[in-house]
Amino acid sequence: METDRLFLRRWRESDAEALYRYASDPEVGPRAGWPPHKSVEESREIICTVFNTETMWAVVWKETDEAIGCVGYLPAEASNLTIAADECEVGYWIARPYWGRGICTEALRRVIDYCFKEKGFTTLWGSYFPDNPASGRVMEKCGFVATGEKVLCPHLAVGADRPVSVMRLVNNPIIIEKKDENTGFNGSPKREKSDTMHITRAFLEGMQEAAPQEVTLVHVIDRHIEYCTGRFACKRNGGTCIHNDDMREILEEILTSDLLLFNFPLYSYAMPAPLKALLDRTMPLSSMAMRKVGDRYEHPCQADFSRLRYLMICCCGFPNSRHNFEPAVAQFKLCFPGNHTIITVPESPMFNAPEADVVTKPRLALVRKAGKQYAETGTIDADLLAEIGSPMIPEETYAAIVNATTAPPAS
Ligand SMILES: Cc1cc2nc3c(=O)[nH]c(=O)nc-3n(C[C@H](O)[C@H](O)[C@H](O)COP(=O)(O)O)c2cc1C
Repeated sequence: METDRLFLRRWRESDAEALYRYASDPEVGPRAGWPPHKSVEESREIICTVFNTETMWAVVWKETDEAIGCVGYLPAEASNLTIAADECEVGYWIARPYWGRGICTEALRRVIDYCFKEKGFTTLWGSYFPDNPASGRVMEKCGFVATGEKVLCPHLAVGADRPVSVMRLVNNPIIIEKKDENTGFNGSPKREKSDTMHITRAFLEGMQEAAPQEVTLVHVIDRHIEYCTGRFACKRNGGTCIHNDDMREILEEILTSDLLLFNFPLYSYAMPAPLKALLDRTMPLSSMAMRKVGDRYEHPCQADFSRLRYLMICCCGFPNSRHNFEPAVAQFKLCFPGNHTIITVPESPMFNAPEADVVTKPRLALVRKAGKQYAETGTIDADLLAEIGSPMIPEETYAAIVNATTAPPAS
């Protein structure tokens, strides 16, 4: 079987090394109820036994032709749940480097289609550990509904003593797909009239072209957000900050989002102060502990944010990108080391100058294309990003126009 980015095919012995590489990750198996693989041999053995069935597929990333996960279903007699003969239970996992890009959802949708159309199942079931909500969201996005039921699965190798939350999808030709929830923080004090918002609106339009999106846009300047007092009180009282302001609602919003968009003009080579205040106040979302990841330290998250994608759209007044955007870009990458995408656009006051339409309109068309690509694939081609980030008119011309319209006449 096939989807846009994936092949779903039978497991092969030659997948053993890839399987071991990803299934030995202690963050993967235990979340799904099985222990990490201990050797390539063990992975090969599992391919020849457990995976040697017509109800399980290797999830193969088309770009590299590598098996990066597994998806399938268990018929009633093999299910962990008590279900009828014309029902089945779905299961899936995906390698950690591929988390947060909608790959599980893409694979599961294809299997759902197969289960209903080819196998004629009437109802599909699925379960997940409540401390792995990302797994529940995969099903939710495919139309599954929480039953509210929590049951033990005594046959699981890991977690048999912990109840799983049960979800169900009834074969109904009109499956209402859950839309992705996107939260945008506009850091420009000019709100909708901001230069940056021209880019953001075009990007979101592009995303909408690919799939329906739910977007909550917060004009940060209108929110009551106190500065962090730096006393770490939130770490000592269960994640609650001493300030009772709009940040409480914003943190809730972040917890249920799939995408966080930071949209801002460059101020003193960085993000404007109100947006920085908001970023500082996300402190309750991480713990006080320090963990070494690669060659850097970070605070572990208090919740599972593996599904979250982070997008930065930053505009600026100068014509140059180099020696200008670097601090903002570096800060964003350090704050959100995984799943980030960064768009920078120089000469942006031109977006609010109708006489510049001849160059801004084609630029916005490129941004729209990037938005569509991002919604479809989770990334944007480097060439397209570079084109969007290049000056729209020659630097000197732009500087001369700005100086002629804004600079006081020389005495
Ligand atoms: C306080 C302040 C600081 C700024 N700092 C920079 C800067 O470091 N580099 C730059 O290229 N533009 C800088 N600008 C220009 C803005 O980034 C530019 O005007 C942008 O288009 C405004 O976008 P907005 O309409 O979305 O707010 C600054 C503007 C202000 C008001």
